[in-house]
Amino acid sequence: MPDNFQKKTLFVTTGAEAVENAVKIARAATGRSAVIAFSGGFHGRTFMGMALTGKVVPYKIGFGAMAGDVFHVPFPVELHGVSVDQSLAALKKLFAADVDPQRVAAIILEPVQGEGGFYPAPVAFMKALRELCDQHGILLIADEVQTGFARTGRMFAMDHHEVAADLTTMAKSLAGGFPLAAVTGRSEVMDAPGPGGLGGTYGGNPLGIAAAHAVLDVIADEDLCSRANQLGGRLKQRLESLREKVPETADIRGPGFMNAVEFNDRTTGLPSADFANKVRLTALDKGLILLTIQDEVFGEALDILETSMLEASTGK
Ligand SMILES: Cc1ncc(COP(=O)(O)O)c(C=O)c1O
Repeated sequence: MPDNFQKKTLFVTTGAEAVENAVKIARAATGRSAVIAFSGGFHGRTFMGMALTGKVVPYKIGFGAMAGDVFHVPFPVELHGVSVDQSLAALKKLFAADVDPQRVAAIILEPVQGEGGFYPAPVAFMKALRELCDQHGILLIADEVQTGFARTGRMFAMDHHEVAADLTTMAKSLAGGFPLAAVTGRSEVMDAPGPGGLGGTYGGNPLGIAAAHAVLDVIADEDLCSRANQLGGRLKQRLESLREKVPETADIRGPGFMNAVEFNDRTTGLPSADFANKVRLTALDKGLILLTIQDEVFGEALDILETSMLEASTGK
């Protein structure tokens, strides 16, 4: 884990459970209850995970009242008109209008928003959050459930930042798809909950731990951080080469292999889910589903994606 302070880990079964526990640990360690999260963020489908998630459709709609003492601030995405300064100003406004920072246990964010659209948190933003947390005794939680384990070209997405989180949640690639998740944090923070306060029947089950060991060996042996950078580089290069031919292309971004291409409507200039869907359906029709991939298949995938973007854009 980034930074070399003393750490301890709690093993659980799903990403959402890791998030729930990170919040419980932060509450126990600080004696405070409020939590701040960001618009567009995704933290799982359990009650606290859902409350922290900054997206109503499809995650919250129809599920009634959310867990209390959760506040959302706009996530900085320059492309959509929210600068780092504006996001920090919103946070300060929240402290002035809604919640005393001395009541805030944690600020939680994904270092690269996953379900929200692959938006990386700017380095200056993470640094400013760290400073604010230190100033007010708030814990910083990095939700690395989606960004963890080589996907961004580094072992953790927080490795791209100058500062470290106090608590980190992880799951997904940790055990290569086998249900294992974890919260790792500062030892003294992790020790705050009382005996029996954290746990679960399947937490740290031997099969999950064995799978995680195997995954970590493969990541090291096959240098998968480099591979993520290499594949991501190829993907971004191909998408860049299509910018002029596909004028709907609004943005190409993302560290390592956690990449996104964003589309706007050609006439309105506004984000176009319709166009993205058209590309996706055309690609699906041509037999492209994006999962783990061999080099030749990835080459074929890029060709299909290119044709699909061109067909969607030209209507031919
Ligand atoms: C950032 C993030 N947090 C939490 C979760 C929830 O993980 P799980 O689906 O394992 O409960 C996800 C799942 O996609 C995620 O991307």
